[in-house]
Amino acid sequence: MGTLEGFIRRLPKAELHLHIEGSLEPELMFALAERNGIAIPYASVEDVRAAYAFSNLQDFLDIYYAGAGVLQTEADFRDLAMAYFERAAADGVVHAEIMFDPQTHTDRGITFGAVIEGLLAAMTEAEARLGITSLLILSFLRHLSEAAAFETLAMAEPWLERIAAVGLDSSELGHPPAKFARVFAAARAKGLKLTAHAGEEGPPAYVHEALDVLGVERIDHGNRALEDPALVARLAAEGMTLTVCPLSNLKLCVVDDLAAHPIDRMLVAGLKVTVNSDDPAYFGGYVADNYRAVAEARGLTRADLVQLAKNSITGCFLPPDEVARHLAAIDAVAHD
Ligand code: HPA
Ligand code: ZN
Repeated sequence: MGTLEGFIRRLPKAELHLHIEGSLEPELMFALAERNGIAIPYASVEDVRAAYAFSNLQDFLDIYYAGAGVLQTEADFRDLAMAYFERAAADGVVHAEIMFDPQTHTDRGITFGAVIEGLLAAMTEAEARLGITSLLILSFLRHLSEAAAFETLAMAEPWLERIAAVGLDSSELGHPPAKFARVFAAARAKGLKLTAHAGEEGPPAYVHEALDVLGVERIDHGNRALEDPALVARLAAEGMTLTVCPLSNLKLCVVDDLAAHPIDRMLVAGLKVTVNSDDPAYFGGYVADNYRAVAEARGLTRADLVQLAKNSITGCFLPPDEVARHLAAIDAVAHD
């Protein structure tokens, strides 16, 4: 049967909730700071890790946006994404849907082209060398204006064929999904798929809004939906994918303790939940670490882990033939 760890790594999985800027490990942060002649307010890698003690989402975001300042050139974005793909491949990730935050970079003078061309180069290399497929999700920063989101969508125009979806991230409270209703409608009209963070810190009403006003096809996080039984019933009936991030939930105090994580309650409620890493360099683990942590904390069975892996595949934006191929590969491992 092998170890739980081995089983998790062997299971083919998709990662559906990953901010590429959140995969910037302290070692690479130092290397890029040096390569680009940028000062960072840390003396050592240990010093950086010690700063990663957060009590809420905003505490984290302040440090995360500052860290992204070392990313300057197309090569930096390629190196960042390649480092993520290496880790993901080692974890048994076969497909990744990667969020990037263009505004974090364009607002400090980096071109949209440098960001996306670097990411695309890594995606091409990862498929050829590691066998991982990937798609890009352009995420709007919700603490910024609707007009700024429209400007970002306009900048993306030359690369629209290479972008699968738009998303919505950053400070949730006070920035409800409806603020971006028109820009999401414009993205939909361009043929992009839609996802949004909702119910991480925000109330169940934000999840309703993401569904009804934005018309999203996935909910990122969605934890607080559990406070609203009618919403849970609706999400289950619609087969809506929730991209849950256990170690993120712990680090950002969405849960007090992993032993209290609702992942198994979500499964029992019939929700299509998936397990993801969110910002692995900041939250202490990549996707397999998240599966293992929550499996140990909540006593998940191998059947639960198989269900989570299948949900990640049926919840992804790949075409049906690729979904079917990955599901068959999961079954092959499950029945080993
Ligand atoms: N929530 C909101 N914004 C983010 C997150 C998150 O978990 N990670 C990176 N940006
Ligand atoms: Zn996120």
